Amino acid sequence: MSLDGSLRGRSLVSVADLTREEVDGLFVHARALKDELRSRGRHQLAPLAGRTLAMIFEKPSLRTRVTFETGMTQLGGHAIYLAPADIQLGVRETVADVARNLSRWVDGVIARVFRHAAVAELAEAASVPVVNALSDVEHPCQALADLFTVLERRGGLRGLTLTFVGDGNNVYHSLLLLGSLLGIHVRLASPAGYEGDAAIFARAQAIAAGSGSRLERFRDPHEAVCDADVIYTDVWASMGQEAEAAARARLFAPYRVDEALVRAAGRDVVVMHCLPAHRGQEITSDVLDGAHSIVLDQAENRMHLQKAILVATMA
Ligand code: CP
Ligand code: NVA
Repeated sequence: MSLDGSLRGRSLVSVADLTREEVDGLFVHARALKDELRSRGRHQLAPLAGRTLAMIFEKPSLRTRVTFETGMTQLGGHAIYLAPADIQLGVRETVADVARNLSRWVDGVIARVFRHAAVAELAEAASVPVVNALSDVEHPCQALADLFTVLERRGGLRGLTLTFVGDGNNVYHSLLLLGSLLGIHVRLASPAGYEGDAAIFARAQAIAAGSGSRLERFRDPHEAVCDADVIYTDVWASMGQEAEAAARARLFAPYRVDEALVRAAGRDVVVMHCLPAHRGQEITSDVLDGAHSIVLDQAENRMHLQKAILVATMA
C-alpha cells in the first residue's frame, strides 16, 4: 500500500497523477517487498490472493510483461496477457467498451498502447485501476523503478543531476516529471526538434518551482553530462517510429553514450537505460556492460516497484 492507502482504486496514467508522499510510500513498500523476497525467497502474505490483472499489450515487451506477471504470481494473484491481436483496442470494439467489460471481471488493468489518449480513456471508463505500461507520451512505471534504483545506490535523490541523452521521448517525459517532483536536476541533450513535449516541460517546470529542481536543455551532450550523477539514454526510434529509424540514426549519432561521454561526467556517474538497447547505436557495448552501468538493477527493480503499485492500487 502507499503508506496512507490513498492510491487504492486509483489509476496511474501519468507520473503527474502522484504526489511526493505517494511516491515515497511506493519506494518504501518496494524496498520492503524486495528485502523480504531476497531474505525469504517468497512473501509471507499473499495480498493479492484471488485478484486478477488484465495486461493489454499493443506493442512488444520483455520486461514489462514478465515483471508484472511474475509480480502478480508472487503476490498470490493471477495475470492474463492480452496480445495485440486479442484485443485490437478501438478496432474490434471501442476502448471504453473494453474498459467496461474488463471492469466486470478483473481487479486491475495495465495497458501498453500507441496513443496516450487510449490509456487515459481506459482509465476514464474503467471502474478498476488502470496502469500505464508505456504510451507514446509516458512510461511512469519505468521512471518510478529508475529513480527507486538511484535512491538505492545513492541513499537520497534531492540535488542529484540526471542527464538524459538522445530523444526527448516517453521515458524522458516521465523522468522529467518525476525528477522535478523529487528535487532532481534534470537535463536533456538532444538534437533540435527532439526536446520532447513543450506542455510536459512547462508542467515539470511548475512542479520544479516547488521542489528546487533545475530543468535544462542542451545541444552538446558533453556539456550536458558535466558533473552529472546519472547519464540516461534510450533508443533513438521508439516503438511506432520504425519508419524514421534510419534518418534518426544519422541525426542522433553525436548523442551516442560511449566511454568518452562517460569520462566527461566524472568518476562516480552511473549509466542507465530502460532497455531494450540497440548496442552500438545509442550506447556502446563497453558502456552498457561496463562498471558504471546499472541497467540490470533497473530491470530487476521494475518488478519490485510495480508490485508496490499493484498492492497500493488493488489490494
Ligand atoms: N523497459 C521496458 O519497458 O522494456 P520492455 O519494452 O521489454 O517491456
Ligand atoms: N522509448 C522506448 C521505450 C521502450 C521501453 C519506446 O517507446 O519504444
